[in-house]
Amino acid sequence: MTTKFVSRRNFMRISAGLMAAGAAKVTLLEPLRLEAAAAIPPSDTVRFASIGTGVRGCELLHASLLVPGVECVEVCDLYDSRHLAGREAVKKEVPATRNYKEILDRKDVDAVVVAIPDHQHRRIVEDACAAGKDVYCEKPMSHTVEDGFAIVEAARKGNRIVQVGSQRVSSIVYAKAKEIYESGKMGDVFFIEAHWDRNSMSGAWVYPIPPDASEQTIDWTAFLGDAPKRPFDAARFFRWRCFADYGEGLAGDLFVHLISGIHFITSTNSVPLRAQSTGGLFRWKDGRDFPDLIDTFYDYPNFRTAIRCNLNNEGGEMIGFYGTKGTMVISGSTLTYKPQDTRPQPESYSIYGWPERMREEYLADFQGKHPATPPLAAAVEEEVETFVPPRGYSDVADHLAVFFNAVRTRQRTIENEEFGNNAAIGCHLANHSYFHKTVATWDAGSKRIKG
Ligand SMILES: NC(=O)c1ccc[n+]([C@@H]2O[C@H](COP(=O)([O-])OP(=O)(O)OC[C@H]3O[C@@H](n4cnc5c(N)ncnc54)[C@H](O)[C@@H]3O)[C@@H](O)[C@H]2O)c1
Repeated sequence: MTTKFVSRRNFMRISAGLMAAGAAKVTLLEPLRLEAAAAIPPSDTVRFASIGTGVRGCELLHASLLVPGVECVEVCDLYDSRHLAGREAVKKEVPATRNYKEILDRKDVDAVVVAIPDHQHRRIVEDACAAGKDVYCEKPMSHTVEDGFAIVEAARKGNRIVQVGSQRVSSIVYAKAKEIYESGKMGDVFFIEAHWDRNSMSGAWVYPIPPDASEQTIDWTAFLGDAPKRPFDAARFFRWRCFADYGEGLAGDLFVHLISGIHFITSTNSVPLRAQSTGGLFRWKDGRDFPDLIDTFYDYPNFRTAIRCNLNNEGGEMIGFYGTKGTMVISGSTLTYKPQDTRPQPESYSIYGWPERMREEYLADFQGKHPATPPLAAAVEEEVETFVPPRGYSDVADHLAVFFNAVRTRQRTIENEEFGNNAAIGCHLANHSYFHKTVATWDAGSKRIKG
């Protein structure tokens, strides 16, 4: 099923499941963005190339087939088998190269999708911006704080559209959550909690090594780029997230999605003021640099956030917003809003330390001032609202559609390079605190982490 059409049967199936789970009111969210984009004339087709056709690059190429008015014209990867994987994803015999500069030299390429390990983002985005290409850069935007500001500067200097790839920012579920958050019906939200927990080899990035991986089929020197030189190591190439030379562990891989979602919903476009992490490497002791559990408390000016990733239990993905008048939870792709009962209620605990007569007088007085209301629990349950996307909904396709539309209109998108930079610095703060066993503080003046 495409993102456009949702059969009534599917809706009934979704609704029935949620009703069984106790949800009072279920709304199926309407995907609009791709339908609006369908009116694009052929002359406005955006021609793009993918730099990196690994797991994510192929996923993006595949999703791009759902986006009207775009065409992939070339793929680039350092591992030859991924040339074929890229062509298969895009269902076309496009040219393929190991050298991304050949793509940047092409005058007929409007934009590039950069889906390569994080340590290479800066160099390739800088080169792409200098070559006049707009860039969809995968998350986290930066490998280091310095890389992030260099990317911001490259986008400004080249006057390019840069969008970072945390697709939740373009999701219809997150858009609804933002609407609820901004409506004020949650009251004041002082605490936000998020986690993303997994319990599998794949979840811990222990990906299988393809049988043809070798120095002949992979350009290892180009993979290392500016990272420390070392002999060919297929585990480092395919499981790069485990190693600090190329990735940022759980913070860069998963925190960044949670932080981006929180920033989007709360309209925060700044770096957390400080972060305090704890955690450890308890189980996946395969030579990796990063912990398999990390739990970070962040200070923002108006609220606090706790974010956790644990590779030792299948807890899934969740963000909870705890307001004085209501609680909103995004669990996977299901959004639930539940009001808190804030009506006046008689004290029912401390008056049991009062003499009976005094207690009864207090209760009678209270009842006189507050006439009977419907049973509290029932009133709240009736107002619980649940929102789900249609089956097969792809926020990845929506995020790509937002980017390609911006390439045409020249209007910056929400998840632009500044947004991406702020979210990525949140990840760097978490790692800094974990590895230095300290409170990491963001110094906006010097653009540095202190502590
Ligand atoms: N938004 C999401 O949900 C999401 C999901 C997965 C990955 N990602 C991000 O996408 C990026 C890629 O991750 P992945 O899982 O696809 O990794 P991967 O290892 O599967 O693929 C990366 C590919 O990049 C290629 N590459 C490296 N340097 C290159 C260069 N200089 N020129 C051309 N190709 C080069 C490698 O050959 C490799 O095939 C990372 O930044 C990751 O964080 C985002």
